[in-house]
Amino acid sequence: MKFDKPEGANPIDRMKVVGQAKDRIDGPLKVTGLARYAYERRDAVPDAVYGHVIGSAIAKGRIRTLDTRDALAAHGVLGVVTARDVGPMGVGELFRATVLGGPDIQHYNQAIGVVVAETFEQARAAAALVRVDYARQSGRFDLAAQIGTAVAHPRFPDTARGDFAKAFADAPVRLDTRYTTPDQSHAAMEPHATIASWQGDRVTLWTSQQVVFWARRDLAKILNIPIDRIRMVASFVGGGFGGKASVLADAVMAALASRAVGRPVKIAIGRPLIANMGTHRPATVQRIRIGATADGRITAFGHQSWSGNLHADGAAEAATIPTPLMYAGDHRATQHRMAVLDLPEGNAMRAPGEAPGMLAIESAMDELADQLGMDPVELRIRNDTRVNPTEPDKPFSTRNLVQCLQTGAARFGWDKRVAKPGGRREGAWLIGMGVAAAVRGARVRNSSARVRLAVDGRVIVETDMTDIGTGSYTILGQTAAEMMGVELDRVVVRLGDSDYPLSVGSIGQRGATSSTSALYAACVKLREQVAQRLGFNGTDVDFADGVVRSGNRRVALVDAAKAGELVAEDILEFDEAMSKTYEQAAFGAHFVEVAIHAMTGELRLRRMLAVCAAGRILNPKTARSQVIGAMTMGAGGALMEALAIDKRFGFFVNHDLASYEVPVHADIPHTEAIFIDEVDPTISPMKAKGVGELGMTGIGAAIANAVYNATGARVRDFPITLDTYL
Ligand code: MOS
Repeated sequence: MKFDKPEGANPIDRMKVVGQAKDRIDGPLKVTGLARYAYERRDAVPDAVYGHVIGSAIAKGRIRTLDTRDALAAHGVLGVVTARDVGPMGVGELFRATVLGGPDIQHYNQAIGVVVAETFEQARAAAALVRVDYARQSGRFDLAAQIGTAVAHPRFPDTARGDFAKAFADAPVRLDTRYTTPDQSHAAMEPHATIASWQGDRVTLWTSQQVVFWARRDLAKILNIPIDRIRMVASFVGGGFGGKASVLADAVMAALASRAVGRPVKIAIGRPLIANMGTHRPATVQRIRIGATADGRITAFGHQSWSGNLHADGAAEAATIPTPLMYAGDHRATQHRMAVLDLPEGNAMRAPGEAPGMLAIESAMDELADQLGMDPVELRIRNDTRVNPTEPDKPFSTRNLVQCLQTGAARFGWDKRVAKPGGRREGAWLIGMGVAAAVRGARVRNSSARVRLAVDGRVIVETDMTDIGTGSYTILGQTAAEMMGVELDRVVVRLGDSDYPLSVGSIGQRGATSSTSALYAACVKLREQVAQRLGFNGTDVDFADGVVRSGNRRVALVDAAKAGELVAEDILEFDEAMSKTYEQAAFGAHFVEVAIHAMTGELRLRRMLAVCAAGRILNPKTARSQVIGAMTMGAGGALMEALAIDKRFGFFVNHDLASYEVPVHADIPHTEAIFIDEVDPTISPMKAKGVGELGMTGIGAAIANAVYNATGARVRDFPITLDTYL
């Protein structure tokens, strides 16, 4: 099915199952431990042996000598694989660091070998016996020091409209501020893990991946083998956050090790290795300049940002991504510049670009409101726009930012905010409120799915789409149930296997609307097959309550199945016309209340509210979970998450969950996420935009703005720790 014009009415609009707050259909498996994650697939691979990956002890340089003799002689060891033992290796398209280093080393903890043994302990102990002598070179580890060398990025070109420099110079009110955000680690609960097993020249990997196709494509390139020799299974994934967008050392080294020893090999990247062996969110430096009239109309908006990576054209933490869309203003300019750093590779993490960008933009908007003496909600409403302000020919398909702000303000009790910083106190606690907008692009990508009507009347869904904890199983089940007119418990959903039709995967908050649309298309075909079998005229056939109706004829769906299983498959092809005609993005508003102890500076989040406008909400329960999860991560980003760099040796020092702090239950207060009624027929047949990363944007600024309101201290270098505001 092609999607090239706004969708009219379709069976999803009935919203009997879709749009309902259904429990996760995979929930019981997860809470009883029956959902098997990659490392636990003893059911599929009972005889796997263990690999332990060795990471480089230098950030940059060469391996002079590498001696594996003692390791090979150790008890239980089956083999050691290093770069010497394998032919030339390629690099993937997404993650561009060479997975298996040697003799040249690209970054600290780059994999330099794997030891395989009968038990995990034997492999780990033998890995310690591998002797490596390095020739260390000096490297570039500090973004701030490299800013002078930064260059433009091919995929994030400058944007401009009007004459920013002149409009800014002429503006009666001017703001010129600089913000910094740190490197951050995904910290998914499930570590990167793979079991690999070869059968002849074909390899199967049970692995933790967000996008099965990208992972296969990149593994094929790295191993120099055809992609169709790789089967990947990612049935359950314990969080990804961008860190599992493609293959890392667990998958690559498990495949190499299994081939070398002739046994299935399982590898997890241990927690202490993940931050330096995997990818991370790169730090940013940002400068924002806003010019406005005295009554708060923005005339000039300028945003420059800098980030770094192993390659100047590698993944960019382009904080300027949301800037062209956000607020009205005729004169605008954005620039992103890239420095080369010898740190571990930076790549996608939790709303890449938008998360750090909105932290700065929405902090700056608060600073501007303060300078103008204007309410920050009102400032945002006054500068709302119906069209993309950088490309005024492009209207937003739907943009309900103002409604989000107004609804949130009413619900949160924004009128009780005291504008003057430090103006509200409860005993020893200073109380502050903050607001910020949220935005993330509503993108789509081709996806396919297969649906069967089994002889027992069950509807079986198959696609290589993943569920990374987001609720894909459930919303796909709801889509099939709605389309075929059955209860949700009559639907079986099978995901994450490359033997199933190729899907969009879980990335960029486009998975939900793209993968359900593919299933919608497959169900349209299946309905036609059912109608044909029943001899119904194709156009006026209705599927509801387990019954197929046409005119005054009614047949139970289960009876239609009895003559034999029916199978339909389709790809939903998204035409660029939609995204070229309309600016498509999800919006939201965050409201936060903080309390800061006047004597000790202790900071407590007291309340958080998000109001989101994200098109049709396919399941309010799983959507809410995604948004409050994103807000929790955003709170972590604002208040604690930061990888500390050892700038002498070029590695992330706090590479475990004891020292890389993420929020725990005690840090997170009552959190609400609500959704504005919105249906966007320009996005997909499901008319849904996606929420996964939206809630991550802006929340940090709402917290920072609340801290300012409580204390009068404006923190521009994140995270906001005690020392930054005392
Ligand atoms: Mo996300 S960083 O698009 O997995």
